[in-house]
Amino acid sequence: MRPQYHIRRLADGYGAGETVYMKILAIETSCDETAVAVIEASGDFHADFRYSILGNALLSQASLHAQYGGVFPNLAKREHGRNLVPLLMEALKRADMLVGGKSDEAIITNLEPLLSREKELYGFVAEFLRTHSKPDIDCIAVTHGPGLEPALWVGINFAKALSQAWGLSIVAVNHMEGHIAIAALPGNGEISNFQFPISKKIQFPALALLVSGGHTELVLMKEWLKYHIVGETRDDAAGEAFDKCARILGLPYPGGPEISRLALEARSSKLEARVRFPRPMQTQDNLDFSFSGLKTAVKKHVGHTSQLAPEIIADIARATEDAIVDVLVSKTYRAVGEFSARTLIVSGGVSANQHLRSELERKIPEVLPLGSILFPTPEFATDNAVMIALAGYLHAQKGEFINPETLRAEGNLRLAE
Ligand code: KG4
Ligand code: ZN
Repeated sequence: MRPQYHIRRLADGYGAGETVYMKILAIETSCDETAVAVIEASGDFHADFRYSILGNALLSQASLHAQYGGVFPNLAKREHGRNLVPLLMEALKRADMLVGGKSDEAIITNLEPLLSREKELYGFVAEFLRTHSKPDIDCIAVTHGPGLEPALWVGINFAKALSQAWGLSIVAVNHMEGHIAIAALPGNGEISNFQFPISKKIQFPALALLVSGGHTELVLMKEWLKYHIVGETRDDAAGEAFDKCARILGLPYPGGPEISRLALEARSSKLEARVRFPRPMQTQDNLDFSFSGLKTAVKKHVGHTSQLAPEIIADIARATEDAIVDVLVSKTYRAVGEFSARTLIVSGGVSANQHLRSELERKIPEVLPLGSILFPTPEFATDNAVMIALAGYLHAQKGEFINPETLRAEGNLRLAE
């Protein structure tokens, strides 16, 4: 059966003055979080957008990857394959959409070639379809990049299988757009029937600081869905810098939360800072970043010492966090002024960092006197599927669905050229 490229409810009601609700199932597998969510959204994001999270399920593989000091792509692929169906069931159950029933056996057999590289996943999907009916979902959103290609493919093939089995259209989502959407769309973080008009929040031009394990970008948005990358890292991402420095200090992966915790300890202990690391490119007249020198500086400082005292580790953690946050804040300050931004959006895993949040809130109002800074709640700063559902809605609402035959993983996908 071929998927249909339309949305029933949207086609029936949109533009007729009625509120049209769209239920979106979203899948995220770009890195080491497997996530599935169901949201219900309505309205135009320029005006009367509203959404509710109906079901949200997530499993982090971080502890499995910890032994490698970073994400191991083939392990991530295998784990996504094992986690997707249980997470789908959990998200549907929370949304009250897990319905017993049975799909036609021919539909299940037809999925076999599609999932030929994910045999274990095929087994789970087949069992699920033999025992459950199609839920009341209007379309499927899936991350197709950027990220680790083996990991992305699992989510994409899962989305294709469900699309084929249930006759639903697919929206291909850029992971970074998901990070922007969850910070910028109103009501993030509350799992209830929150309903705020979007116009109260974002004002254009808006600037987004996207800081994650793989990306550090300053993105200018003159309107929704129009992105221009005005600055980015020339080497390591901010999250990567946190992770690599943490590894040198013998701290577990992911390093960001560990460094942040120890830095807070060092600051509240009132012990004087004993070390300061360089701030590469901070004073250069551009909006780019460079973080790869930081790990070299930390390594050099640690030297050959095998056993570092806890207060020394905390002191280095503070110096690391200070260096990263200082550079991020300076470049963001410069960019907000240069483009006369009226809203600053800050998102991605590193935006969970409290020190970064408070430094931005302390310094940015000088250049953004009447505007606002939008952060996701810390829970939604790191990877999740609600953000993919939201970005999916932005495109689904415009009828931007993808032909599953051309849908593929794009590890280096960019928001703009
Ligand atoms: O957005 P994300 O979940 O995944 C990617 O798309 O990369 O970001 C993960 C990154 C990791 O590098 C992690 O160390 C960092 O975000 N991170 C933090 C904090 N929480 C997560 N970095 C600094 N402080 C935190 N509290
Ligand atoms: Zn991310």
